[in-house]
Amino acid sequence: MRVLVTGGVGFIGSHTVIELLKATHEVIIVDNFSNSDPEVLGRIATVAGQKPQLIEANIGNHAAMDKVLKDKHIEAVIHFAAYKAVGESVADPLKYYRNNVADFVSLLETMAANNINNFVFSSSAAVYGNPPTSPVTEDTPCAPTSPYGWSKYMDEIVLKDVCSATPALKGVALRYFNVVGAHDSGIIGELPKGTPQNLLPIIIQAVTGKLPPLTVFGTDYDTPDGTCLRDYIHVVDLARAHVAALDTIANQKTGNYSVYNIGTGKPTSVIELITTFEKINGIKVPYTLGNRRPGDPMACYASAQKARQELGWQATKTPEDAVRDAWRWQQHLQQK
Ligand code: WQD
Repeated sequence: MRVLVTGGVGFIGSHTVIELLKATHEVIIVDNFSNSDPEVLGRIATVAGQKPQLIEANIGNHAAMDKVLKDKHIEAVIHFAAYKAVGESVADPLKYYRNNVADFVSLLETMAANNINNFVFSSSAAVYGNPPTSPVTEDTPCAPTSPYGWSKYMDEIVLKDVCSATPALKGVALRYFNVVGAHDSGIIGELPKGTPQNLLPIIIQAVTGKLPPLTVFGTDYDTPDGTCLRDYIHVVDLARAHVAALDTIANQKTGNYSVYNIGTGKPTSVIELITTFEKINGIKVPYTLGNRRPGDPMACYASAQKARQELGWQATKTPEDAVRDAWRWQQHLQQK
């Protein structure tokens, strides 16, 4: 299919573009480079053997997006372009509701005006907030605890209602758990702008000395080693889930709106991720044990049964793969 990928030179977007090209889809990227580097396009071309078209535009610019959808004869949209820093969303909610919700609505309007009826949406496990139990299923009540999480949940509700009103529109929301790792080529990976917000990039910058030793937030949780449990999903597995979702809606094997958890289904603790990094890469991680971070759920990991049954997708990579690939990418960055 001719697929428009918004945010396609970003971390998850670029990995998904590679998998789409490998699956012989045609890809057009729209990105405004607010949290990405256009140079990634050349690296996508190196890995995938072909260079997708890249158009600089804001998804909220109706005229610009209308032109892209028309000129490029788009048949499907995979939507990544959004802000994703939980802490920043608390400090600047309007930035998040404008970009993640208002501009999302504008994109759906532009798609409707062009009768484009295949849509894969990048949602997040943040819609669950602090889930009472794990593994989390798609029926676990949604109770976001940040404007970021609320923005993703609002988008899901908008998409569900638009799909209900438009039987021809097929929408899928993928709720990502904690995304980690990098492409095994070593030339594409996460490029956190400013200070990283998430555990694995923080581990890596503590190792390189760009950041001070990291603090493990809490060791007194009711978990096997006292530290929080999360579901660390490799970015390449996540990318492949988008291709599976696109294929599924194109053949409309399910109803016209579905939600899927995209995770490994296996919990990993903070200490386990640190010791796995040390074991696989043969490097000590400088860290200290500290107090809990307010708002952290003790455990948040997926039941990924529904994606396996309906999308025919399951994670194949492990935290070992993720820490190896992320470190290989970091070493490539350091050589640049
Ligand atoms: C993971 C674990 C921390 C840093 C958030 C968003 C979620 C998604 C992923 C976008 C927690 C611990 C972390 C540190 C630590 N983003 N930690 N020391 O909070 O699970 O999820 O990012 O979709 O929406 O909510 O990710 O990487 O911040 O933390 O001990 O210096 O690592 O306490 O247990 P989180 P995280």
